[in-house]
Amino acid sequence: MTRNPQLNRNGELTHLLTLEGLPYEIVTQILDTAEPFVSIAEREVKKVPLLRGKAMFNLFFENSTRTRTTFEIAAKRLSADVINLNIGVSSTSKGETLLDTVDNLCAMNADLFVVRHSQSGAPHLIASHLNATGRTHVHVVNAGDGRHAHPTQGLLDLYTIRHYKKEFRDLTVAIVGDILHSRVARSLIHGLTTMQVPRVRVIGPRTLLPTAVEALGVEVVNDMREGLRGCDVVVMLRLQNERMKGALLPSAGEYFKHYGLTAEKLALAKPDAIVMHPGPMNRGVEIDSTVADGARSVILPQVTFGIAVRMAVLSIVAGN
Ligand code: CP
Repeated sequence: MTRNPQLNRNGELTHLLTLEGLPYEIVTQILDTAEPFVSIAEREVKKVPLLRGKAMFNLFFENSTRTRTTFEIAAKRLSADVINLNIGVSSTSKGETLLDTVDNLCAMNADLFVVRHSQSGAPHLIASHLNATGRTHVHVVNAGDGRHAHPTQGLLDLYTIRHYKKEFRDLTVAIVGDILHSRVARSLIHGLTTMQVPRVRVIGPRTLLPTAVEALGVEVVNDMREGLRGCDVVVMLRLQNERMKGALLPSAGEYFKHYGLTAEKLALAKPDAIVMHPGPMNRGVEIDSTVADGARSVILPQVTFGIAVRMAVLSIVAGN
């Protein structure tokens, strides 16, 4: 049997690259570890010494507001040293390869790399390179690679769902919009199926759904009104225009009419359904402001929980 490259020989998490194939016990360990970290934010001194002396490098080759900042806050709350490499003025613009950059940062005694890249597989490439060159004490966390995976977003989404709904069993979760280009959707689907959520529904126009998406264990619904009926959780996704090749939609206005979440459409879900969105949001394209800012929106708590979840991931992969 091939070993999961994220786990060491003892079955412990050493890199976090994807939620696909990550055991139930490890996902649960991360969610449980995050619980006490939430309350650290309420203390006067918001720090614990779990990663004291460790150096974490944020390598963001793509833009980010939430993920980069919350990783930085998480590492600082764990007492790590954080270095944000400014990719725009780094030597990658002079032709240095990704792995040469990594080797040079390892020569500066890096302990952890948090990597966002437009190329699917970039964090996996770095982790394989580190493992193959015997630097198993250096860890990689995927902060979003191409269309492939965004595991910490998937974990913070799971944390948010568990926080508001208490249990995963019996839930119906709808993921709405541009599933085709979404690493967030892919990671969340893997997370929800691992946590044995019985009904995961993807809702979107045929042009924005991957072929054979049912193989991931989800129901496919093209009509949003039909798909929202009886849902406990509604996860809205951004249209990933930067990853679309050619016109997949008639217009943003037409898209909003059919797939934008309004108060009227949300009324078809359960009365206590929560509304989530990974951000950044396009108001008036995939979600109406009355819903985004409404009583059932947990979009900002998702961001807050993201700090605790990322603290959990960093302390598990790189803690002593
Ligand atoms: N959800 C998310 O990944 O947001 P950012 O692109 O701002 O990091």
